[in-house]
Amino acid sequence: MKITIIGTGYVGLTSGTCFAEVGHDVICVDHDQAKIETLLQGKIPIYEPKLADLVKKNVDAGRLNFTTSTKQGVEFGEAIFIAVPTPPQPDGSVDLSFIEKVSREIAACLSPDLGHRVIVDKSTVPVKTGDKVEQTIARYATAGSEFSVASNPEFLREGSAVDDLLNPDRVVFGSNSAQALSILREIYQPFNAPMIETDINSSELIKHAANSFLALKISYINAISAICEKSDANVEEVAKGIGLDHRIGSAFLNAGLGYGGSCFPKDIKAFIAIAEELGQPFDLLKEVERINERQLEQFLDKIKEKLWVLKDKKIALWGLAFKSNTDDVRESIAIKLAKELLAQGASVHAYDPKALETAKKFGGLSGDIHYYNEPYALLEQADALVIATEWQEFTSLDFPKVKQSLRTPLIFDGRNLLDPAMMNNLGFEYVSIGR
Ligand SMILES: NC(=O)c1ccc[n+]([C@@H]2O[C@H](COP(=O)([O-])OP(=O)(O)OC[C@H]3O[C@@H](n4cnc5c(N)ncnc54)[C@H](O)[C@@H]3O)[C@@H](O)[C@H]2O)c1
Repeated sequence: MKITIIGTGYVGLTSGTCFAEVGHDVICVDHDQAKIETLLQGKIPIYEPKLADLVKKNVDAGRLNFTTSTKQGVEFGEAIFIAVPTPPQPDGSVDLSFIEKVSREIAACLSPDLGHRVIVDKSTVPVKTGDKVEQTIARYATAGSEFSVASNPEFLREGSAVDDLLNPDRVVFGSNSAQALSILREIYQPFNAPMIETDINSSELIKHAANSFLALKISYINAISAICEKSDANVEEVAKGIGLDHRIGSAFLNAGLGYGGSCFPKDIKAFIAIAEELGQPFDLLKEVERINERQLEQFLDKIKEKLWVLKDKKIALWGLAFKSNTDDVRESIAIKLAKELLAQGASVHAYDPKALETAKKFGGLSGDIHYYNEPYALLEQADALVIATEWQEFTSLDFPKVKQSLRTPLIFDGRNLLDPAMMNNLGFEYVSIGR
């Protein structure tokens, strides 16, 4: 199949590359000229494990190409996937202006001679957005242009996006057009994954419902972690005990600083707004958000309880990315934590294996913040070490050396990465979450 992806970000680039990897011919469009130039030079603009090699392999094989021209994209692909941002507005509802704009841009390139095009929305959008996309394209396209609209939400996780795309738990797509469904079936046939074919509204809703459920699991275990702390129980034992019940499952039951990133915070806010707009308020999700916010506040309280006053304290911070294996710092809890520490007068010395540059560019940290490209130098005479991202690398560092460098051997582990008994044996005062 010939496939076009409009929006070559985390989702567009990885899904376009994986479509090429299974044998489709793909062109990825982006209006960001610098991004397309970087890709045309054989470099990739983000850090995502396995992606650089896969892009190179498929470009070399002639199955993957890049352009800034939407017209070229619309002429190329029988299926045109939209993967542009859907950021939150100040009230939490979704800003659909990127989707609306790209719909008009596609419409402007359609013509009756081109033949049928299926426009597939891969961005995360509120239920019923497909109707709006269809109306907009119909309004702006030349009369007689043939097209249909479908939804195909994306479930990849940054940090393991390539594996998630090549071996998905399931593929979901929905449309009210039999032709669109048949094209999507053909596109996904090589992936050998269960396919959920449905109406377009259900398909759109599945994405918000799935992300909200995952966020709910995170907030659930975080609420349990607070109860564990008050009752001398261990949240890891509790999580194991409940997670082995296959009706519950152990994924997403790790207590920590809460969820962040470019998806969960905005998608939960969006689903609250969507439900509100439909006249069916979803208060459970408001509590999910409240628990998530409280998790960071309680962690900061623990730091203040030990260090008393943060002004003029040197804090070493491991982790800036919103999760491990990515350079993405959008809505990162680690960045929020750094902002709070800085606001209270601390000097923050930060290291992250992959997200230093993105943190400098997009993190919005200012004042007494210092960046390091290795994990030890920042520890020198620090009053405490704070771990804010769950990079595996942090578990295998030289902790006797860490202890020697710190002014006081105090570790706050916001991701429960380290073993409390081992840390205590090494002579650290070790504070983690719910254990
Ligand atoms: N990042 C994730 O982990 C993830 C996972 C699942 C779903 N999603 C959803 O996928 C969508 C895209 O997310 P992302 O993280 O890939 O965003 P992103 O910001 O990384 O990429 C979006 C790209 O779209 C481009 N763009 C915007 N308007 C354009 C236009 N009119 N023409 C051409 N290019 C245009 C931007 O330049 C940018 O490169 C969002 O709706 C998001 O919620 C993201």
